[in-house]
Amino acid sequence: MELPFAESYKIKMVEPIKRSTREQREQWIKEADYNLFNLKSDQVFIDLLTDSGTGAMSDRQWSAMMLGDESYAGASSYYNLKNAIKKILGFDYFLPTHQGRAAENVLFSVLVKEGDIVPGNSHFDTTKGHIEHRKAKAIDCTIDEASITENEHPFKGNIDPEKLEKVLQQYPAEKIPMIIVTVTNNTAGGQPVSMENIKQVRALADKYGIKVFFDSARFAENAYFIKMREEGYADKTIKEIVAEMYQYADAMTMSSKKDAIVNMGGFIAMRSEEIFKKASVYNIMFEGYLTYGGMSGRDMNALAVGLDEGTEFEVLDTRIRQTQYLGDKLKEYNIPCQRPTGGHAVFVDAKKILPNIPREEFPAQTLAVELYLEAGIRGVEIGAILADRDPETRENRYPELELVRLAIPRRTYTNNHMDVIAAALRNVYERRNEIKKGMEIIEEAPIMRHFTVRLNRL
Ligand code: F0G
Repeated sequence: MELPFAESYKIKMVEPIKRSTREQREQWIKEADYNLFNLKSDQVFIDLLTDSGTGAMSDRQWSAMMLGDESYAGASSYYNLKNAIKKILGFDYFLPTHQGRAAENVLFSVLVKEGDIVPGNSHFDTTKGHIEHRKAKAIDCTIDEASITENEHPFKGNIDPEKLEKVLQQYPAEKIPMIIVTVTNNTAGGQPVSMENIKQVRALADKYGIKVFFDSARFAENAYFIKMREEGYADKTIKEIVAEMYQYADAMTMSSKKDAIVNMGGFIAMRSEEIFKKASVYNIMFEGYLTYGGMSGRDMNALAVGLDEGTEFEVLDTRIRQTQYLGDKLKEYNIPCQRPTGGHAVFVDAKKILPNIPREEFPAQTLAVELYLEAGIRGVEIGAILADRDPETRENRYPELELVRLAIPRRTYTNNHMDVIAAALRNVYERRNEIKKGMEIIEEAPIMRHFTVRLNRL
């Protein structure tokens, strides 16, 4: 008999979690103004709000923390991280930051000006926020297949080269500080970008004299999908694929809280000494001195180990198989999701589940609240609330997709938890016709409103 798959780790430390009653949850979500970000974590049974900073570190990472060097300047932890970045990603220059959006803030302070254009594949919300805050414009060039959830395209995160070239033709090179390739493409469903597509983007960038930056939060998961799905990569190691991917990038921003499996941290890495020098000034101003920039020595040590572990096949295989286990269960229950299942999360298609809730009443937010009420499971809306208002017209932007993201923290839950999630969602799905009303906004912030929005149930 062929042996079944099993996780590539055993568990050394546990954290209790609590169930609650439906009445309690009705009360709590009302007090939270129907915004799941406002819930206290002990009001949540299974927390799928994000896979960011919520993973379990390994014994190697914890032991590296004990060796953290907290010197203000020149700490050994800084050099451990510098060496790991050079070895795994190939960049000579790097700046530590406290998380990914801080890396964006520092780098964009150097490079993005009012009136600039930044093409990419479904820029993440903080990335777009940092672009729009500088009165520049993010243009989404993701392939059209990404918005057809039932389409099983293997690289739905790809950039459409035709859409990209149109942008590069339309605007002068000095107005385009960079193309941002997000690997994997979080907003489109944790969907990978193929090596072939990365090469196409690089070729177009070279043709028009533009830089290519990778938003790298889930770069290792992207490499895993290249290994599993793209011809010619099956026999390569994840580290070999990562090294090849980054040959095509001029710089990267990193949220280390994802694929480097730490609770906090980020960095910028680049080839250009000139950009490094300019960014250093902002890094010192916004983050901290060059050799710690917003991170403690112990955290840099854990990150250096995390980069190494996070690019090991067994770690990724265990992680992505769990996400796929949940995706497969939902498929078995006929619950419409973004297909194929992405790396870090399952994205449930709320528009298809609640077709009677008009987009003005936020179907994805409505579904996320229903799932919480059903079983204390916290997902997140990736729909019109997240898409925010157009910065110029102030009209609501209604994206193609209304999704509820169920993000799976790394090495945290077991497949029994996945079974509970699938069953809870199935229960909501079975009573979908009883859900007739959505939500209205009662208060919102001028930018990135989803974090603090206050809602009412209609
Ligand atoms: N880029 C991508 C693709 C991301 O997914 C995130 C964060 C960031 C940048 C910003 O990094 O949080 O360290 O400041 N994504 C988290 C999420 C928050 O839940 O998907 P950060």
